[in-house]
Amino acid sequence: MKPANQVTLWVVRGGVAVVTAMILGGATLSMAQESVAVRAPMVKGALPVDDPNAAVWSSATPATFPMSPQVHWQNRIQEATVKNLTVRALHDGTQVAFLLEYADPTQDPDDGAALEFMVGDKKAHFAHGQPMAQVEGGPVNIWFWKNKENKAVDMSAKGFGTLKPQEHQDVKAKGAYSNGTWKVVFSRSLSTEHPNEDAQVTPGEFINIAFAVWDGRKDAAGDLVEKGSQKAVSSWWYFRADAPPDYSSYMYAAMAVAVALGFQFVLIRKLKKGQ
Ligand code: HEM
Repeated sequence: MKPANQVTLWVVRGGVAVVTAMILGGATLSMAQESVAVRAPMVKGALPVDDPNAAVWSSATPATFPMSPQVHWQNRIQEATVKNLTVRALHDGTQVAFLLEYADPTQDPDDGAALEFMVGDKKAHFAHGQPMAQVEGGPVNIWFWKNKENKAVDMSAKGFGTLKPQEHQDVKAKGAYSNGTWKVVFSRSLSTEHPNEDAQVTPGEFINIAFAVWDGRKDAAGDLVEKGSQKAVSSWWYFRADAPPDYSSYMYAAMAVAVALGFQFVLIRKLKKGQ
């Protein structure tokens, strides 16, 4: 093969390799974040805020998180009923809704579940934002549902003993129990007027999320086994409400390919002229 054609071939191969690497690189990064996250696709139409069994929930990708008994701080518990939790989420550009699903052999009035978010930029520990050696401590926003009231309490905490309901209650919740499974829907507007107390959800951005579940069963003496600090907890995971579809990256990729092809065309022409 003539030297000029060999060079052409190497240039073409090189160009294709660069473009492929750019596309794959972008895809790999976002996939890495996906595996530890709950993603809320944006849906048209009403969010199923009152219906844990609505069909539209099937359009949300479920994420399952391990739950462990709270052994970090007194009062500890060595064994908790709930071992893992499946979470789905949806948003409609204004509101966000989470569906928590987990196995609980008995339906009890004190069955409860909660979501936790960091508030603002300060890193907080998932134990109520308690200041810890490795974490300075920061405010957290907790959405708490209990079966007997079957509604949500919007709470704030910044360390143990500080947990309290907020003045403004922005969160809704509704639970449904069947066949040994609880399904609990929490919903709220994506953003609120209280950014110092409430987590704010910005579509396209990952935020931290943690979970807690209480099995309201009683022991032989009639005392609650799981209550307050004695519950199943998760550590921090990620949540992202999907941003509306953005095609700009494809446009840039197409432009890059066009520029690369244009460059090669000129180069080949120059090389041919030079023969
Ligand atoms: C290591 C992790 C955790 C520890 C050590 C812990 C500890 C405690 C303690 C000591 C209490 C009693 C009230 C107080 O002192 O503030 C409590 C209650 C509570 N915690 Fe946690 N917690 C942990 C994680 C979580 C998480 C991740 C959530 C939410 C997702 C949560 C939600 C709640 C709620 C809603 C209550 C009130 C329960 C009630 O009134 O029945 N906690 N927790």
